[in-house]
Amino acid sequence: ERALGGCRWVQHILTYDNVNSTMDVAREAATSGAPEATVVMAACQSRGRGRLARSWSSPEGSLSLSILLYPSEDKLQSLTMMAGLAVARAISDAALIQVDLKWPNDLLIRGRKVGGILVESGYVEGRQFAVIGIGINVNLDAMKFAEIADIATSLSVESGAEVDVLKLLRGIIVEAEALYVNFNSQGIYNEWRQRLVTLGCRVTAVTGKAIIEGLAEDVKMDGSLIIRSDDGRSHNIIAGDVMLRHV
Ligand code: BTN
Repeated sequence: ERALGGCRWVQHILTYDNVNSTMDVAREAATSGAPEATVVMAACQSRGRGRLARSWSSPEGSLSLSILLYPSEDKLQSLTMMAGLAVARAISDAALIQVDLKWPNDLLIRGRKVGGILVESGYVEGRQFAVIGIGINVNLDAMKFAEIADIATSLSVESGAEVDVLKLLRGIIVEAEALYVNFNSQGIYNEWRQRLVTLGCRVTAVTGKAIIEGLAEDVKMDGSLIIRSDDGRSHNIIAGDVMLRHV
């Protein structure tokens, strides 16, 4: 709580040693009328979840948080981009490492995943709410990644030093507040697009319905990805995942 002292946006912060998922705690908070920018944090999660119904592992040393918001309709579609940018900016600041975004919102360092973002939304008494979930591998040593070292990493592995988790948390909140309160959809889109390593790469996209191979050409304002397949057709991918192939 002290770490966020002086940050007026966040008036309510709930911290736990262990919860199933901070997403569920934030949803419950919405139901009981918690204020805008309520932050839920847990040292560990026993049932953390990721995008596309995957599970998300959050052992001690990772940062797991959810932010509850009541966004207007125009802000809602930018929330994933906003969260990705806030985290990328904050990591660059706290750990002095360049972070890339992989569509739709994986946080990568040297091509390895260091964190992810999950946005869920719903209604409570007719009012729209959204929960931004952020999971970052902060101080996890290389042994934790032995089996997946080619696809995952942590901030401490990459920077060669322990990272101050509270400083990182504060940075994320400060950046998120700036993007959310001084909302500028074009600015958010432009910076997010610039940070995407996906554009210009050959990709294989897996959606619920199909597997599409081709060149990741661009993203739209709504966050969807445009892929040009080899037969010249253009595909608009709204949800799914891409594998990058280096040529
Ligand atoms: C992804 O890359 O698929 C998104 C991962 C999001 C994980 C975070 S950790 C905090 C919050 N609580 C959860 O259960 N998930 C998100």
